[in-house]
Amino acid sequence: MTEPSVTHPYTPQQELPDHPVPVMQTRSLNVFYGGFHAVHDVDLAFGRHEITALIGPSGCGKSTVLRCLNRMNDLVPSARVEGEVLYHDQDVYAPSVDPIEVRRHIGMVFQKANPFPKSIYDNVAYGPRVTGMKVDSMDDHVEKCLRGAALWDEVKDKLKESGYSLSGGQQQRLCIARAIATEPDVILMDEPCSALDPIATAAIEDLMLQLREQYTIIIVTHNMQQAARVSDRTAFFTARPDETTGNRTGLLVEFDKTSTIFENPSDQRTEDYISGRFG
Ligand SMILES: Nc1ncnc2c1ncn2[C@@H]1O[C@H](COP(=O)(O)OP(=O)(O)OP(=O)(O)O)[C@@H](O)[C@H]1O
Ligand SMILES: [Mg+2]
Repeated sequence: MTEPSVTHPYTPQQELPDHPVPVMQTRSLNVFYGGFHAVHDVDLAFGRHEITALIGPSGCGKSTVLRCLNRMNDLVPSARVEGEVLYHDQDVYAPSVDPIEVRRHIGMVFQKANPFPKSIYDNVAYGPRVTGMKVDSMDDHVEKCLRGAALWDEVKDKLKESGYSLSGGQQQRLCIARAIATEPDVILMDEPCSALDPIATAAIEDLMLQLREQYTIIIVTHNMQQAARVSDRTAFFTARPDETTGNRTGLLVEFDKTSTIFENPSDQRTEDYISGRFG
């Protein structure tokens, strides 16, 4: 997995282009769990230095799609993925591609903060150590990542204490520090604020906006206000029941700039969902 040295002229300060200049794309992505067709034909493009929100009712496949992007679904034995997931035009499912490498470039933050049972310092140093990443000074690298996750000032005097000694919001920022420690390009976040209070949520949202300067972020959220506040583009999914089996297969309804999705959606299903009439 090599990251091409193409830099895209768009920075968040400039106007959002009509179409994303993609770091990642899915093409005809279909996901099955055993015989169950969980996600049908998803085509999405995730723009560089943009925040893309995936929204939709429970069970429509948001987490499934997110997990495909860095091959986390490989860890689910029944999961089967068809179609393509491209990272800088390379298919992350190509046989020659190492999933560990994929996850180094495409990091993940989960719904429930999940620090390792290690010190704050070792949580952050873990990824660079296991991947053999070269850093001049681990102390400096850990500090940089904790600063990047807006946590340094709160933990600088207790780096040897357990990650579990932190509050929920701090633990989530520690997980973000851990995710950026391997210097990824893309960060996936699956409902990262759903267990947090409004103050901790605001801190993570501010952090996402800062991280966007350096990373491409894809976030699943059930919180419409959050999607509207932080994301540049929004993808709305829904689930359609199969007429014979009744199984609900997730599909992408609409993908556009967040302002368009929330102010002027083109599909009635999107309109119904964002106005709270459904889901
Ligand atoms: N490991 C699994 N094994 C079997 N089925 C699964 C598995 N994970 C998810 N599914 C099914 O796939 C469908 C999509 O699930 P997914 O978790 O992606 O939905 P979601 O949109 O993230 O929902 P939520 O908003 O509740 O988190 C659901 O019907 C779910 O039951
Ligand atoms: Mg989910």
